[in-house]
Amino acid sequence: MSTIPVRAAVFVGPNAPLEIRELQISDQPGPNEVLVKLAASGVCHSDLHALDGDWETPAPLVLGHEGAGVVLAVGSEVTDLEVDDHVILSWTPSCQKCEFCVSGNPVLCQLANETAYQHVFFDGKPRLSDGEQDVKSFLAVGSFGEYAMVPASAAIRIRKDAPLAQAALVGCAVTTGIGAVTNTAGVEPGSTVLVVGCGGVGLNVVQGARLAGAKQIIVADVSNEKLELGRTFGATHVINSREVDLLDTVRELTGGRGVDYAFEAIGLPFTIEACYEAIRRGGTAVVVGQVADGVKISIDPFVMSDQEKKLIGSNYGSSRQSIDFPKIIDLYMEGLVDLDSMVTDRITLDGVNDAFAEMRQGRGIRSVIEYGA
Ligand SMILES: NC(=O)c1ccc[n+]([C@@H]2O[C@H](COP(=O)([O-])OP(=O)(O)OC[C@H]3O[C@@H](n4cnc5c(N)ncnc54)[C@H](O)[C@@H]3O)[C@@H](O)[C@H]2O)c1
Ligand SMILES: [Zn+2]
Ligand SMILES: [Zn+2]
Repeated sequence: MSTIPVRAAVFVGPNAPLEIRELQISDQPGPNEVLVKLAASGVCHSDLHALDGDWETPAPLVLGHEGAGVVLAVGSEVTDLEVDDHVILSWTPSCQKCEFCVSGNPVLCQLANETAYQHVFFDGKPRLSDGEQDVKSFLAVGSFGEYAMVPASAAIRIRKDAPLAQAALVGCAVTTGIGAVTNTAGVEPGSTVLVVGCGGVGLNVVQGARLAGAKQIIVADVSNEKLELGRTFGATHVINSREVDLLDTVRELTGGRGVDYAFEAIGLPFTIEACYEAIRRGGTAVVVGQVADGVKISIDPFVMSDQEKKLIGSNYGSSRQSIDFPKIIDLYMEGLVDLDSMVTDRITLDGVNDAFAEMRQGRGIRSVIEYGA
C-alpha cells in the first residue's frame, strides 16, 4: 500500500480562507470503499455555512460535497463499481442495513448521521493526512480535493457520455431542489408553487416544479439577476422581496388564497415563516434552506391545527441517490432538465475563495471547480 498526493482546499477554522495544501491519501480503498479522481466540484452554500462558522465544523477538513469523477480503485468487497466508472458523489452514504435505509429513506441513514455527518467514515476515522495529522473530509466527501475516498454507497455510477462538470451539480443542488418537489412534497400537476431564494438549490426547485406540471411558479429573491434566472428555469411570476411585500404579492397573485406549496431555499428564519404564511389552508411549506446552528422559527400552532397547514423538511430532496442521480442525468441528456445554465463559472481549485466571495454577494448560480486531467 502506498499513498498518493492530493491537492486540496483545506478548512482551517471559521472565517479564514481555505488553504490550498498537499495532502496524502492511500491508494488502497477499504473493502467497501472506492477511490475517486475528482473531475469537478460545485461550490454550494452549505460549504459557505461551514466556512462562515454557521455550523460547528472541525478543522483541518477538506470542504466540498458536490462532486463527480472517475473511479480509480475499488475495495475488495465492492461488486457494483469498476475502475473507470463515472460517478457522482453522494454526501449521504447509506449503510443499506438500518431501518431508514431498508425502508427506502437512505438520506436518513442512522450510520451516516453518526459518521459522515461528523465528517468521518463508517469506521469513525478520516482518510486524509497532511503528514502530521489526520484531515477530515466534509460529509465524508471532501470534493475540494483532487482525489476522494468514499464509501461505495456514496459513489453512484452514471452514463459516460454526460459531462462531469454538470453532473457534479446533481450531487447536491439539483437533486436537493428537484427532489424537494417530486419526492418530499409530491407536487401535483396544476399546483401553485412559491420558491423563496433563487440560488443553486432554489432554481432547481423551480425546475422541479416545472417538471411536476405546476401551473403557477412564483419566485422571490432580493436580486433581479436571480429573478431573471428564475424565469429561465420556469418561473411564471417574480417578486423582488426587497422592493415589494412578499406576502401581499403572493396573495394578489393567487386571488387571496395562498399557494399550494411554498419552498424556502435560503435558510433564514423570517423567510421560512413567510413561506408558512404564504400557503393556503391545507397547504404545505417545505424547509429546504438550512439555518445557522441554534436558529429558531416562530409558528402559530393554532393556525397549524385550524387550517391544517403543513410544515415539512427536506433533506437532499428525500432522494434515493442510486435511483435519482442516473434519472436526473438522463433527463438532462434528453433536454428536460437544464444543467448547462447552472454552471456560471468554471474555475480551478485556486479560485475557490473567490467563488465564496461571489456567493456572498449573491452573484452567479454555481462556480464549478474543474480538476486537470
Ligand atoms: N436541505 C438540503 O438538503 C440542502 C442541500 C443543499 C443546500 N441546502 C441549503 O440551501 C440553501 C441555499 O443554498 P444555495 O447553494 O442555493 O445558496 P445560494 O447562495 O446559491 O442562494 C441563496 C439565494 O437566496 C437569495 N437570498 C438571500 N437572502 C435573501 C432574502 N432575504 N430574501 C430573498 N432571497 C434571498 C440570494 O440572492 C440567492 O439567490 C442554503 O442554506 C444551503 O445550506 C440545503
Ligand atoms: Zn442506513
Ligand atoms: Zn450542497
